[in-house]
Amino acid sequence: MSGSATGPSLNKDPRRIADMFDAIAHRYDQLNRMLSVGLDRRWRRRAVEALELPSGARVLDVCTGTADLAMMAARHGSMPRSVVGVDFAAEMLALGRNKLRVTRLDNTILLARGDACRLPCLADSVDAVTMGFGIRNVVDTGAAVAEIFRVLKPGGRLALLEFGEPRLPAVRTVYLWYFRQVLPRIGRMLSKHTEAYAYLPASVSAFLAPEALAGLLRRSGFCEVRLDRLTFGVVCLYSGKKSAKA
Ligand SMILES: C[S@@+](CC[C@H](N)C(=O)[O-])C[C@H]1O[C@@H](n2cnc3c(N)ncnc32)[C@H](O)[C@@H]1O
Repeated sequence: MSGSATGPSLNKDPRRIADMFDAIAHRYDQLNRMLSVGLDRRWRRRAVEALELPSGARVLDVCTGTADLAMMAARHGSMPRSVVGVDFAAEMLALGRNKLRVTRLDNTILLARGDACRLPCLADSVDAVTMGFGIRNVVDTGAAVAEIFRVLKPGGRLALLEFGEPRLPAVRTVYLWYFRQVLPRIGRMLSKHTEAYAYLPASVSAFLAPEALAGLLRRSGFCEVRLDRLTFGVVCLYSGKKSAKA
């Protein structure tokens, strides 16, 4: 699908998505903080808490971007043994690596280039998987979920964050005005990218409804699947477990 007068292109060709994130990488963290009025940190913390990490865990952060969620996991009180962040956008990873050096987390976190649909990890090899705001961008949602299930050890947990849309009518009206009208303009101004911040609300609206994504997790083998709506449903936290008997 190509761009048109009615909205940005929702083409999720991996090269196009990687190029888009590489082009906005230099402003990505700043815009995240600003456009979420700082709430992104709270959402990531909730995701890491949902993992119920055992001590010394091996964690995989899929679609790690600039590694904020990987860093949050690495700092968890359970002292993870290692965190691997995977993403296909080289520039996002480069910025992430700088942050790891500055914060001295480069001994704990390894960032690797790779595709969510073909994770560079062995089966049953990680205790927990996180994925923050990545699943909506992946060309094959089912393949990415199946990959996450494959690499998790039996008993391992997934915590996945993705944008949603509030259901409460008054909140929904105000939020959608902000999300569809204000955010793309600020994003375009600061990132200098014409499409990326218009793609964001458009791709959220076009993505699976929260219940449908939770259903996909269940059909892919996850048990104890939970859907928690954070900040009026602006963000959904999906969590689930690979059964210990799997
Ligand atoms: C919105 S950013 C989220 C980054 C980070 N997880 C966070 O919470 O800020 C989405 C990231 O997913 C990556 N991505 C999208 N599809 C991917 C795929 N199929 N394989 C690997 N990375 C992917 C993009 O390159 C981008 O860095």
